[in-house]
Order: sequence, then C-alpha cells, then structure tokens
Amino acid sequence: MARIIGVGIATLDIINSVDGYPAEDAEVRAATQRICRGGNTTNTLVVLSQLGHCCHWAGVLADEPDGQRIVDDLKQYQIDTRYCRVVKDGKVPTSYIVHNRDNGSRTIIHYRDLPEFSFSDFTRIDLSTCDWLHFEGRNVTETRKMLAHVAENYPALPCSLEIEKGRPKIKVLFKYVGTLLFSKNHVLEQEDNSEDAAQRFLERLHRQFPEKRLICAWGDGGAFGIDQRGVVYHSPPCPPAKVVDTLGAGDTFNAVIIDSLINGLALEAALADGCRIAGQKCAHVGLNSINPL
Ligand code: FRU
Repeated sequence: MARIIGVGIATLDIINSVDGYPAEDAEVRAATQRICRGGNTTNTLVVLSQLGHCCHWAGVLADEPDGQRIVDDLKQYQIDTRYCRVVKDGKVPTSYIVHNRDNGSRTIIHYRDLPEFSFSDFTRIDLSTCDWLHFEGRNVTETRKMLAHVAENYPALPCSLEIEKGRPKIKVLFKYVGTLLFSKNHVLEQEDNSEDAAQRFLERLHRQFPEKRLICAWGDGGAFGIDQRGVVYHSPPCPPAKVVDTLGAGDTFNAVIIDSLINGLALEAALADGCRIAGQKCAHVGLNSINPL
C-alpha cells in the first residue's frame, strides 16, 4: 500500500441517461438521473483507494451542501481531505452530463467558478511520507511552482501528470514529472486523426523528453506508451460484452497505471492492466466496482 496524494478537482456530476443522443434543439426526457461526485483526480483516487492505497485529495472545497456531498463520498473510500482549501461562499463546479444508454458514451458540459488550488495551499502538505504525487495539468502557473518545489525538495518522489487539454504553456510542466498521461483528445489537438497519430505524437515528444514515460489512453483503440528507450507499446482495448458507462474510464486507466508503476510493473504490463480494468469499469455505472483480479 502506498500513500498517494492527488492534486486536482472534484465536481458535482449531474448525469442524465438517455436512449440515443439527442439532436440539437430537441427536447427529450431523461430515462434516469444520477447526481454524484466526479472530477478527474478524485475519480482516480477513488479507484486507487479500491486498489488498496491510502489516498489524500488536495483541492478546493466549497463550503456549501454540495461540498459536503463531495467530502461524504470521498469518506466512503477513506480518502483524506485534510489538505484541501475550504472556500466560503464558493460553489462546487458542476458537470452536466448526457449519458447515452445505447453505447455508454458521455458528453460533458462543465462549469466552474471556484478558485484553483494554489502553490501556497500546496506548501501546507506534508510530503515527507508521500510515495506518489499525481497532478492534473491545469492552472499552469501555480502547478509549475508546486512541481518545482517537489523537484527541489523531494527529488526522489515519483510524480505523474495528466494532460487532458492543451492549455497555454502546459508543456513547461513536462520536465518536472516522470510519468505523463495524455488523453486522446489532447493528442488529436496536435496530430491528424490517422491510424498512427498516437505513435507519432509519442515519438515526437520522446525526442524532446527522452527520460519520461509517456502514455496515452485511446478509448476503444486501447492505449499506447513509449518508454525511456523509445520503444512504443500498444495495448488493445478490453471492452465488456456491453459498454454501459464510459464516464471515468480514462480516470480509471490513469489510476491503474499509477498502481502498476508503484508495484514495479514494466510499461507494457501497466498498459495492459490499465486497459483491462478500464474496460471492466465500462460494464458498470459509476466507479465503485473496481476489481483488480
Ligand atoms: C470524468 C470527469 C467527470 C467530471 C469531468 C471533469 O473524467 O472527471 O467526473 O465531471 O470529467 O472534467
């Protein structure tokens, strides 16, 4: 069991399930509605906790009933929130999600108006017993200070960084971490959508950052990774017989990669485990049915 700290967001997800994605300007009735905690880092921590790790969330909590809902949900997974900053008069960020029951797809409209976790919040964290630090690639100026602080004071502490969107100057963060986890969307912001897009992206980035482990999840195309020797690996997807819900599958994949690397697995095996467990997740609604076996 490792002590893992995740720096990133929590959201309130309002998920309307429909049978078939609606046309623009249509009016449809949802078949079901589910309201729950979401957010990439907290999703990843929820999976890591089910894989047996001791997890802490470092993020911003709004002091309002939806903020309490987030704390209560994380408590169920023994995720500690002592390092969070609590903002009075803040509102929890919301995601309005259309979940298509026909194919499990999820379309997310996200709204936030809450301050970001800052470097000064980060300096209150006790990193001395931390085994792995995971970051979301957002709020580049403050995250850079956090990463530089870690590199200077805890150079042996492994860090991972999730890059979901190509935010301005995001690349300045890459040099500080050992493991970079890219989304397919981010890769396709940079590459033509051809069969070898992931491989091209990884090889190009490897030339600039040869000492990093670079990984990208590719949805129903599995996942790709390149190691420090420049060897590219591809793991095929492991979809269930019926894809029920893909919300959080990428966050699950990231959690399994972190878990596998902590357990000393090589990149190829980590990718295979990531695809297997992310695939299992897609057979279920939510993130509470993680089964590593
Ligand atoms: C899924 C998710 C949702 C959240 C949104 C935030 O990956 O974390 O739970 O609403 O993405 O971008």
